[in-house]
Amino acid sequence: MLTKLNTPLKTTLALPCVADRAYVVETIDELPQLLAQLGNDSFHVLGGGSNILCSTTRVQTMLQIGIKGIQLLQTTQQAYLVQVGAGENWHDTVLYTLAQGWAGLENLALIPGWVGAAPVQNIGAYGVELCDRVHSVKAWDTVEKKAVSLSAEQCQFAYRDSVFKQNKGRYLITHVTFSLPRPWTPVLRYGELTGQFSHTPSAIEICNAVIQIRQRKLPDPNVIANAGSFFKNPLVTAEKAQALKNLYAALPCYDQPDGQVKLAVGWLIEHAGWKGYTRTVANGQGQVGVHSAQALVLVHLGGAQGADLLQLASDIQADVLAKFGVVLEREVNVW
Ligand code: EPU
Repeated sequence: MLTKLNTPLKTTLALPCVADRAYVVETIDELPQLLAQLGNDSFHVLGGGSNILCSTTRVQTMLQIGIKGIQLLQTTQQAYLVQVGAGENWHDTVLYTLAQGWAGLENLALIPGWVGAAPVQNIGAYGVELCDRVHSVKAWDTVEKKAVSLSAEQCQFAYRDSVFKQNKGRYLITHVTFSLPRPWTPVLRYGELTGQFSHTPSAIEICNAVIQIRQRKLPDPNVIANAGSFFKNPLVTAEKAQALKNLYAALPCYDQPDGQVKLAVGWLIEHAGWKGYTRTVANGQGQVGVHSAQALVLVHLGGAQGADLLQLASDIQADVLAKFGVVLEREVNVW
């Protein structure tokens, strides 16, 4: 286990925040001892830091589950079962599995972050959600004080939601086991992928197409600090969606199995006039804004504090509520 004092936290929003004590756990056996040592002290768990907004410049204790390793557990007629340590980089895992011939994660290429964070918000993109590919998740249960394995059903996955998100602080994810389908079939239902190929593509071709789409539409966090989608696409009743459609025929709406309708929050923010907006903050020293190619991505252009970005987010929320009567929920976790 690595222990560091006064550690600046690395998050893709690049907001200033230091942890008094930071621990990086490298094996599951180190966890019980560390948790006993921490006693009743609260702590934050950081993965790759790609979905975190630090609203404070100091946190007391930060924990990272840096458990590594990718292992084929079993090959059945239906699937490859592949167990991955929480501390593996997500995109590298996608590339590694594809290189082994275990297809299934290609639509989720280039999502920043670590594997252990992926089940928390049930990452999803281009027609596939993590839950479509999860067999089970291993975690340390801080309430029961023991290692547990949760089936995909027990993870209670929903749109950008899970049992891990609902019970913050209870489960420390150590491994994710994927069920990668055999035979594999391509998932091309997302509009931009559907039109991309005149032949049936391989998983690697889909991966490359997804990488290209993401590079075109989403800012690279290494170049422009951001946390991907800042808000969730809101779910509204069918009546509410119809009322909005009557006013704005172009509003993208997606019918859900439960009768609700998901609206494209990027469209709402853009049509409320925020796309490409920038604001000077911190006495002229900093700048925050809304990405010019994807309105649901808020950007930190340097020199700002978490509170500045939160203020921008709440101004957007208030404006979208006033203009469209729709409540926006943050996807990003706020510390
Ligand atoms: N749109 C606009 N203006 C914008 C952005 C989007 O009008 O500024 C419209 C688009 O034209 C499109 C619709 O909104 O008709 C949906 O846009 P897009 O397909 O780009 O997807 P999204 O709903 O904005 C979601 C995920 C992304 C994921 C993409 C692709 C959420 C909150 N976001 O975005 O996830 O990559 O679908 O599947 O569900 C992330 O979580 O960080 C993330 C990037």
